[in-house]
Amino acid sequence: MKITCNEKQIYIYIYIYIYINIKKPRILHQISPYFVFFSFGPFGGHNKILELFIFLQLISMAEEEVQKNESKIPEIVLNSGHKMPALGMGCAAEKLPPVEELTSILVHAMEIGYRHFDTAACYGSEEAVGKAVAKALEIGLIQNRDELFITSKLWITNSHHDLVLPALKKTLETMGLEYLDLYLIHWPVRIKEGANMFNLAEGEVLPFDIHGTWKAMEDCSKLGLTKSIGLSNFSCEKISQLLEHATIPPAINQVEMNVSWQQRKLLPFCKEKRIHVCGWSPLGAYGVLWGSNAVMESQILKDIATSKSKTISQVALRWIYEQGVSPIVKSFNEDRMQQNLQIFDWELTKEENVQILQIPQRRVFRADSFVQENGPIKSVEELWDGDI
Ligand SMILES: NC(=O)c1ccc[n+]([C@@H]2O[C@H](COP(=O)([O-])OP(=O)(O)OC[C@H]3O[C@@H](n4cnc5c(N)ncnc54)[C@H](OP(=O)(O)O)[C@@H]3O)[C@@H](O)[C@H]2O)c1
Repeated sequence: MKITCNEKQIYIYIYIYIYINIKKPRILHQISPYFVFFSFGPFGGHNKILELFIFLQLISMAEEEVQKNESKIPEIVLNSGHKMPALGMGCAAEKLPPVEELTSILVHAMEIGYRHFDTAACYGSEEAVGKAVAKALEIGLIQNRDELFITSKLWITNSHHDLVLPALKKTLETMGLEYLDLYLIHWPVRIKEGANMFNLAEGEVLPFDIHGTWKAMEDCSKLGLTKSIGLSNFSCEKISQLLEHATIPPAINQVEMNVSWQQRKLLPFCKEKRIHVCGWSPLGAYGVLWGSNAVMESQILKDIATSKSKTISQVALRWIYEQGVSPIVKSFNEDRMQQNLQIFDWELTKEENVQILQIPQRRVFRADSFVQENGPIKSVEELWDGDI
């Protein structure tokens, strides 16, 4: 069979396509349309060398663009031996975009360098996170699932020994994943099935069995359904209690942390116990129902940001990172999510750190709704063991 000139050209492009698919899959989706265009000879097949040259130039530009837009996030090693990117993308919002839109937002986050995603059974974003993982694999943004770090959380209607494994299985099913990187007990609290955390009726807060719930978390880890297990919103006292019987120590305690709630008691305690801290609401949940403007409108942060030509959010996030804590920051806006990544190649000075220590301290989210006169939690002091 005689191969014509145009067929030869198509074979060359198919060869390049396969090569890129194997060697540089991250740029494949950017340049796919060019393959079709160039394989059929846009210049009437007269100037094949020129066509190939232009095509190769486009490939190298696409590669440069991907590298330029992708920020590298440092990784930390957890006490479970697994690595975690030191900054995570929060996936909770007062009003979530529809699943497909949120999926595209999260894929874009991966394109610019986010690798760590924080969701929870109660956020309503598990499905979109799972779809974004599938999409990233499909388009070659990542080659393996293990390039991402996915966290989800046990909701408080299920914080009971017998309900943990079914809840994790449901989460995995919703996300279409075989395993999580991290599964957290969302709160040291249990409420009745169907109850609303923000509007709890008398009797809907139930006693929380800390040891039974943790034992079931350990079983999930042993089954390989999650690589690491951890806590969220646990005080020093509650962690101590949990450690009395734990056979696997929690890898993480995810708590509110920002310049206006610096976790001065919890941080040294967790460090001593080798439990890594992740900070939620690192910007004080600016503009959100549960948040405040204490971070984003702090005059101290404003002055530091101006003097360093950084944004307030960058100063707020950098400060958390310098405390050895991993911020979990939410932005679904392209510019702001890019901005929030640019915190790893500069530092705050000693003087700036001293100024940040002057910021008045107040827990933004106290979770008063769990407190009931006749329930198991009788005061916010009891919930936080005095650390408020
Ligand atoms: N474990 C827990 O109990 C718990 C509790 C709360 C939150 N979390 C996790 O932590 C994540 C983050 O916390 P959060 O959402 O409460 O608060 P946050 O990250 O402190 O603040 C999010 C708010 O700040 C805005 N924002 C983000 N970047 C910005 C920037 N560069 N400049 C100006 N505004 C900016 C966002 O709006 P745009 O999206 O419009 O940019 C959003 O309104 C959550 O998504 C969730 O995954 C966990």
